[in-house]
Amino acid sequence: MEFATKTIHAAQPSEPETGALIAPIFQTSTYEQEAPGQHRGFDYSRTNNPTRARLEAVLAELEGVSHAAVFGSGLAAENAVLQAFLRPGDEVVIPQDVYGGTYRILNRVFAAFGVVIRQIDIGDAAALQNALSSRTRLVWIESPTNPRLLVYDIAAIATAAHAAGARLVVDNTFATPLFQQPFELGADLVVHSVTKYLGGHSDLIQGAVLARDASVFEPVKFLQNATGAVPSAFDCWLTLRGLKTLELRMQRHQENARAIAEALDAHPLVRRVYYPGLPSHPGHEIATRQMTGFGGMVSFELDGTVDEVVSFVSSRRFFALGESLGGVKALVCHPARMTHASIPATDRAALGLSDTLVRLSPGCEHPRDLVADLVSGLDALAAARTAATISAVGV
Ligand SMILES: Cc1ncc(COP(=O)(O)O)c(C=O)c1O
Repeated sequence: MEFATKTIHAAQPSEPETGALIAPIFQTSTYEQEAPGQHRGFDYSRTNNPTRARLEAVLAELEGVSHAAVFGSGLAAENAVLQAFLRPGDEVVIPQDVYGGTYRILNRVFAAFGVVIRQIDIGDAAALQNALSSRTRLVWIESPTNPRLLVYDIAAIATAAHAAGARLVVDNTFATPLFQQPFELGADLVVHSVTKYLGGHSDLIQGAVLARDASVFEPVKFLQNATGAVPSAFDCWLTLRGLKTLELRMQRHQENARAIAEALDAHPLVRRVYYPGLPSHPGHEIATRQMTGFGGMVSFELDGTVDEVVSFVSSRRFFALGESLGGVKALVCHPARMTHASIPATDRAALGLSDTLVRLSPGCEHPRDLVADLVSGLDALAAARTAATISAVGV
């Protein structure tokens, strides 16, 4: 079955009792049992729920494995993986460019329990070898990364992690299973912020963990029930609805991202564009090899001041200034003050995360409108600079 067909048909038969084409939301906390302990697979909705189970089956199909567990947020999903595999004294290796919330949960929550975090340039094979030890339990990567869209060689990192006896976790949020299949590249676990492209409409918060092996999945599944960070049946149903257009949406997101990346690349006020689809992107060759599309996100560094960045991101017509990404409606974000503000300024600088970086999440609007919105904003900044120079010379 092809990917688009899976998003609509995999694990989604019409509802058997009534023939309803789209299965209902099982909005129930509990289930009547025939005798104590005798039920039809559902006893309490924290433990299991038919709408959630359907979503988990679809997500597993899309990532090409048999095990998925969904959570109340991407970070709840991350927490379950970290809790399942890390104990005091264990080490985890993460890249320099990593989602701010992942950095925070490791450094502010797990470090306090004695977990050691090694943050390195994971694209550098020697640095990775140096960071790995017999105490490394997990290597955790995103690719492409948030916010600089760096691309890492997943297969090479999986080989290095496995040789050290560690498991590789890939956050596949930015690529989505349409454009990247991390299990085929050697990942042991995949996590998602379902909130983003999988949900796709900026109307829910949700996360997922996927695993190929039952033994790897079992402790995560246990924690889903034992710690209880589960999503509502309604939110699961919304994701099932969103998933049905995942391929269509991703194609438009990608078309928009490419058009924007090319327009920004040609603008004199842009110092640098980060988009894996541009041949100038340092990860372009790896992305071409391990992805089937370059994704829908674009970041760029404005050749200007932080005040100019703030003015630019605050006054776009179609790009709403907001956290998050991956929805049908375009969003713009200033990572240094928003999504990555939890990383201290000195650490941000050391990690190469510039304060003039702008992150764009093009929606499913028409590319002409989105490009025009961005270019007119940059042209307005250039015009304001010229006017300031003229008035200074005039004085
Ligand atoms: C790459 C990535 N992973 C994980 C998360 C966390 O997901 P959530 O916000 O659903 O908790 C985010 C959120 O922005 C993200 O961008």
